[in-house]
Formats: sequence, structure tokens, C-alpha cells
Amino acid sequence: PQGTATATVRADAPGPTYDRRIFTQFAEHLGNGIYGGLWVGNDRRIPNTRGFRNDVVAALRDLGVPLIRWPGGCFADEYHWREGIGPRNKRPIKVNTNWGGVTEPNAVGTHEFMDVTEQIGAEAYVSGNVGAGSPQEMAEWVEYMTAPAGSLAEERARNGHKAPWKLAMFGIGNELWGCGGNMRPDYAADVTRRYATFVKAPSGVRILKIASGANNDDYRWTETMMREASGQIDGVSLHYYTVPGGWPPRADSNRFDETGWAETLAGTWRMNELITKHAAAMDKYDPKKRIFLAVDEWGTWYAGDPGTNPGFLRQGNTLRDALVAAINLNIFASHADRVKVSAIAQMVNVLQAMILTDGPRMVRTPTYHVFHLYKPWQDATVLPVELRSPWYGKDQWVVPAVSASAVRDKAGAVHVGLTNADPNRPMTVTTRLAGVQATAVTGQVLTAPAINSANAFDAPNTVAPAPFTGAALSNGTLTVTLPPKSVVVLDLK
Ligand code: AHR
Repeated sequence: PQGTATATVRADAPGPTYDRRIFTQFAEHLGNGIYGGLWVGNDRRIPNTRGFRNDVVAALRDLGVPLIRWPGGCFADEYHWREGIGPRNKRPIKVNTNWGGVTEPNAVGTHEFMDVTEQIGAEAYVSGNVGAGSPQEMAEWVEYMTAPAGSLAEERARNGHKAPWKLAMFGIGNELWGCGGNMRPDYAADVTRRYATFVKAPSGVRILKIASGANNDDYRWTETMMREASGQIDGVSLHYYTVPGGWPPRADSNRFDETGWAETLAGTWRMNELITKHAAAMDKYDPKKRIFLAVDEWGTWYAGDPGTNPGFLRQGNTLRDALVAAINLNIFASHADRVKVSAIAQMVNVLQAMILTDGPRMVRTPTYHVFHLYKPWQDATVLPVELRSPWYGKDQWVVPAVSASAVRDKAGAVHVGLTNADPNRPMTVTTRLAGVQATAVTGQVLTAPAINSANAFDAPNTVAPAPFTGAALSNGTLTVTLPPKSVVVLDLK
């Protein structure tokens, strides 16, 4: 039997902009996120440009990645930027204490990161070292990257880059409540005030400063940071991972049953409640919403793939992850007044990745395809969606069967994104389009034979978008039949 949902797209009452920085990617020095995944150095077997593999860069370029967060994560609060500049063969080899205890060659440093960011067509979001670094070290790094003149600018020029780089965003540490220094919220707020003071932009340049935010439902953290440090920051972050089976992560990314599917989707839906409550804490101190929420780590976190270094956080990516991605992108739409940045963790080979590589081979994950389908959302206007969905559940895990968001792009076209969490039933969504003058609908669907279908290196298109013919438009009403376990994106003209 088919389920039914109803919706109204309120193009007659448009909302805020869906900030393109919601599609930010996170690239940490972790496992094969940087080394092997992006950087192959002098390895001639893999075509590359100045050490960055062409296949991965091209795929990311095609996603329209707006911003890349680097170098961590936990790695950031132990990273000393001076170790990553100058001749590569003279850079110190360190131990990556957070992630697998492997050696960190420092081959990718500031110049290389800025290079790959430009190759991808993105902007830079650099996280500073608050935990183990000094305000002076942080100030000098910012000056090295952005100053037009002075001895640090000259050193940058000697190292191959005369012009200052654009540094769009700077993180005042990462997870100061944990790997960034195990600080209590009041102390972290004071530290944030202090360090942020020394992140100075050259005249006429703006660098947005992001405070290290809360873990999950730590509303006290957000409230304290807002109360004590809001004068020094532009954004406050939030980290929330979807971890079926609980912490430490133990669920298998590829082998799971319908209970594992439902539990994961229920876990990801929690994002809606978390943002609502963190935003309410921010409202108390910033009712005009000057400071944005940057959900700069989110995504699924499962047990590492069998046989891999558990510190590498290498996991598979299935149709379930596609649903997770689309549900979160839809949730962000309903909080777009406060959420201006989000960064899925992570870009390549780590956690809920866009791309997986194996030596010279690469594959686009189901999550990649969702980000591609949602490209029209970047900087479009949110059209609020009033949705009445039936529930879908398995065992104790219950979620709305349908999630939705809609936007109007700059050219006037309306785009609607829908998910059907129910793996067993199609869902017909009857949608009233209030204030939309459209006569044609086209679309694409992402689904697959099984809830755990994935793309493999030798079968890369098992989960890939296909043309969608299940939508009809008549008299301002859009009728869509979503296949079970699917993501559908529609374009109305
Ligand atoms: O993304 C992996 C890790 O998760 C990050 O380094 C840290 O910030 C978070 O705990």
C-alpha cells in the first residue's frame, strides 16, 4: 500500500537565503583524507596538478564546493603552521597523535591547501591552533596568509606566493571542550575572546571568526559562548554526528538491516531538535541573528571498515547515507535564518565522504550525488514547506516518512527536494504551490535496489541519479509519487 503526504510550498512567503556555505566540505589530516585522497605528491601513476590528484579535484569542482575547512578537527589544535611551509624535504615529520599514530609528513601545508582550494574553486576556512598554540602563533599565521606587506608577506612570497590569499573564515580552535583542550565553557569563552582578538585582517579585508561550539545537546556551552564572547565572533559552531549503536561507533557501514536503517535516520533527524534549541540559546543574546550557527561537523560515523586502521575513520557509504545527507540538507532549509554554514565530515575517504579512493581508483558515493542534486540550493531563496507526513518506523525508531525543502533560484526556477524514508512503500505527496507560476516539472531520483546499495570501484553507478517521471503538475498542484527509500529533486519552470 502507498502512503500519502500533503504539503504546501509557500513561494508567496519566501524565507531567507539558503547560504551556499551550507555545502562546505571538511578536510582534515586524518587517514587518507588528505594523503592519498587528495594529495599524491610526485606519484606519477596518478595524474595530478602540483601534487593534487586531477580526478578527485575535478569531481569536487563539479560539486561547486563553496568552502573547505582545514586542517582539522582535532588535528588543528596541535598543528604548527610553520612546520608546513618552505621546502617540502625540510619539513619536520610529526606523529598524528589523534588519528592512528601515523607519521604526518607536513607535505600539505598552507601553500598546498590554498592551491587545492583554488583548484576546486572554493574558499578557505582555516582552523587555528588554540589548544597547543599561542595567540602569537595564530596571529602570525593569519598575517602570513593575508598581509599585503611586511616580513611575513615577504616570506610567503619567497615560498612561492606573492599575493595575499583570501581567508574567508577562521576557526578559533576546534572542540575546545574535548581534543582542543578539555576546557569548561566559561574558560573556553574567555580563551575565545583572547585568541580572537589577535586574528586581525588587513584593512579592507574581512575574516569571519568562528567560535568552537557545542557537542550535540550541550546548550550550556552555546549559551556561555554567546553570553561571554559574542562581541568577538561572527559564528559559533555545532558538531553533531549520526552514530547508530551509540558511542564509540560500532555499527557496520555496509551491513545492516532495516532496524539499522531506521535507527540511523532517526538519529539524523535529531539535528532538527538540536538546531532549534541551540538557535534558541543564541536568540537570547543575539535576537537580530548577527551571529550564525556553523554546523561544521555532521554526518554518519560508523565502525571503521574491517582491516583498516581504526584511527583512519574509513567507512562505506550507501543509499542510507544519501538519505542522511538529503534529510540534513532539508533540515538546514528550515533553519536557514540562523544556519549559514555546515560542513559534512569529511570530504574524501573519512566518515561520510563524497569520494572514496583506492590507490589510483576513485568512486563517487551516494552522498556525493545528493550534494550534486542539491546544487541549485546554493544561495537560492528558501521557500518554506508546510508538510504533513505519515510516520515511518521500525522497532522503536520512528521518523517522518517524508522530508522536504524548496528554493527559488536567482533565475526564478523553483526546486523541490523530497525524501522517502520508508524502504517498503511508495509515498504520494500532494503539494499545493502557493505563489509558483510553473507549467513544467522535471526531476531526478536517487534510489537503489537495496537499503545498503553502494558504489564500488568496479561498479561505480549502482547508486546514481536517474531521470524521474513520477511527478505531475496541474492547476498549481504538484503530485509526486516517491519510490521507497529515495531522494527526489524536482525542477519547476
Ligand atoms: O571528524 C572527525 C573528528 O570528529 C574531528 O577531528 C573532531 O573535531 C570530531 O570529534
